[in-house]
Amino acid sequence: MSDPKAPLSPSVPAVEAAAIRRVLVVGTGTMGQGIAQISALAGYVTHLYDVDAARIEKAIGVIKAVTDRLVQKGKMLNEARSEMIGMLVASPELGPAAADVDLVIEAAPERMDLKVEVLAKIKLFAPERAILGSNTSSLSITEIGNRIGAGARTVGLHFFNPPPVMELLEIVRGLDTAPAVVDTCLSVAKRLGKTPIVVNDTPGFATSRLGVALGAEAMRMLESGVASATDIDRAMELGYRHPMGPLKLTDLVGLDVRLAILEHLHREVGEQFRPPSILRQMVRAGRLGKKTGEGFYRWTDAGPEPLTR
Ligand code: CAA
Repeated sequence: MSDPKAPLSPSVPAVEAAAIRRVLVVGTGTMGQGIAQISALAGYVTHLYDVDAARIEKAIGVIKAVTDRLVQKGKMLNEARSEMIGMLVASPELGPAAADVDLVIEAAPERMDLKVEVLAKIKLFAPERAILGSNTSSLSITEIGNRIGAGARTVGLHFFNPPPVMELLEIVRGLDTAPAVVDTCLSVAKRLGKTPIVVNDTPGFATSRLGVALGAEAMRMLESGVASATDIDRAMELGYRHPMGPLKLTDLVGLDVRLAILEHLHREVGEQFRPPSILRQMVRAGRLGKKTGEGFYRWTDAGPEPLTR
């Protein structure tokens, strides 16, 4: 475990929070989009990069549409929205996007090799001071940092879906993450309007480990016929005041995302995280939840509806 009081290595001139001006969000899926929205709203020049350049403009279009609705509902001032949009920079080339960046937030799919590949590339272009954050929900920050040769400035910045709404930012401290980097991230969290917690680098951290345990058990209960998906969810919504039940939440997050986390925790922690067969089957069938229109529920603009089959 890194000593939180240990002095910052002189070879890591980590940028201070007040000096952070430019953020690079890598990946424009659900999480990348939402993270870019809050970063731009907080006044950071926010570059958006994706391997598929067409997805960048699409993501900016989604952010514009979402915030337009907030303006119409009177929840955001039009001027604030215009300023926010002015902070978004579509960046189809990684080199120029990373050249003067202070903070990177990688939100690529949940695969170690992919994250290492993209962050290693960014490291080649980004200034030495830049903090390299990953929005991984379960993978080892220590391993990512070690494999890209930048352990001291690699940190987990775990946001929650939907990022503009969820209050938490889970900051994950790798074995080599410099304390100054964690301090800067704590300040950035506040500027983003989030409440941070600091968690040591362990599989699934504090959030995903508990979250998938509940979700996987709900799936096993559905498999063994304890109750319908709706009633299993209601049990937690009405009995425990969860804002949404574990199966609906799995749909919101994405069944593929949950499966990747469970597979990782199964390997790293043990048998209690073995992915339920129903989850594997549904992912194979392309029923990934809200983003594909069907998971444990059918999703339309009106929200989730129970499946009748
Ligand atoms: N930007 C800004 N505001 C937004 C927004 C956006 N993109 N999307 C929604 N909102 C706002 C809405 O305007 C609304 O605001 P008001 O309450 O002021 O009216 C509010 O968010 C709620 O939205 P809705 O009314 O549309 O929906 P809801 O009340 O049913 O809440 C929910 C939806 C926030 C998703 C709620 O059901 C909830 O909290 N669910 C649990 C979500 C959760 O647990 N997320 C964590 C998942 S795990 C994860 O993400 C980590 C991982 O690693 C995979």
